[in-house]
Amino acid sequence: EDFEGEGVWRYTAALPLEEGVTTQEGATPLYEVPRLEESVGIEALRIKHEGMNPTGSFKDRGMTVGVAVARELGVDRLACASTGNTSAALAAYGSRGGMETLVLLPAGKVAAGKIAQASLHGARILEVDGNFDTCLDIVQDLASRGEAYLLNSLNPFRLEGQKTIGLEILEGFLADYDAVPDRIVLPVGNAGNTSALYKAFRELVQAGELAADEVPKLVGVQAEGAAPMVEAIENGADEIRRWDEVETRATAIRIGNPVNAPKALPGIRETGGTAISVTDEEITEAQRDLAGEGIGVEPASAASVAGLRKLRAEGVVGDDERVACLTTGHLLKDPDAAAAAGNDPEPVAAETEGVLEHLQS
Ligand code: F0G
Repeated sequence: EDFEGEGVWRYTAALPLEEGVTTQEGATPLYEVPRLEESVGIEALRIKHEGMNPTGSFKDRGMTVGVAVARELGVDRLACASTGNTSAALAAYGSRGGMETLVLLPAGKVAAGKIAQASLHGARILEVDGNFDTCLDIVQDLASRGEAYLLNSLNPFRLEGQKTIGLEILEGFLADYDAVPDRIVLPVGNAGNTSALYKAFRELVQAGELAADEVPKLVGVQAEGAAPMVEAIENGADEIRRWDEVETRATAIRIGNPVNAPKALPGIRETGGTAISVTDEEITEAQRDLAGEGIGVEPASAASVAGLRKLRAEGVVGDDERVACLTTGHLLKDPDAAAAAGNDPEPVAAETEGVLEHLQS
């Protein structure tokens, strides 16, 4: 009720602080996608596009809280390991909060837009000759030695901010359909969002705001080349087997050791959800489908739509369902992937006749 802030900060009742280090994060669009909805073949499909946050990903929702907590604690150096988006958000929010930032990135595996952001916002960028999981091992060591304050999704304050994704989705569906969604489909890397959404819904149930049987089913989607969560769900395992070799075009979710799995696995199971993997080709196809509705996302984001399509085809998702797909990052994060998936530029002569001839040929 008495909301004063905007976006993420409308939800102070669900957050550990009254205000954050902010650049107006949250309040992202919940797009209608009529053609995609029809081709998937479900009652309703909406796209919660987190790429519309200030730095172009959902990470801003976590950083606005996490960086504010760091400032209250009086720490002076913030650090994260990142496949790119976390580093971009940390660099931006750290500089806004007046703190030094350090980011560890897997060399050669971070999309251009993300490095550009971290760079211009003034982070020290350490390129590690190893994958994301190794970067996170190192940052955890640095944090435990008191060298830096950790702002990966292991930081619980970040996930408090990310809960607001779930709250906005529920509000949007209630406004438009008078009911919460049956299912929320999201890409999984470290499973921070999966954990955060589950926590948000549990808290609503505890507060008597949501019936236990109304909690949306959580569906995690991973790339085939980096799918330890899917493996754990399929095997009914309580723990993740860390994948040392991971590969996917969706570099944001090129992760072999999802650190929030202990919280996310129960979230998927207890909501009646599931986890599924998709190929890079399926991801690119879904990226084109979204682009065809005017929604520009980076590859990892499109995994949600690719996963939904697959589950619908398998009959796991029914035609009567209302579903929200989360798209986590903006198209411009990975301009090379976008250009590779889209049309090629056509060279033409520098005069109208030549252009007309080219168009007719
Ligand atoms: N989508 C995008 C675009 C991401 O950047 C990430 C994670 C995820 C999905 C996965 O989210 O961890 O909550 O399951 N990116 C992190 C980073 C790892 O460093 O930017 P999750």
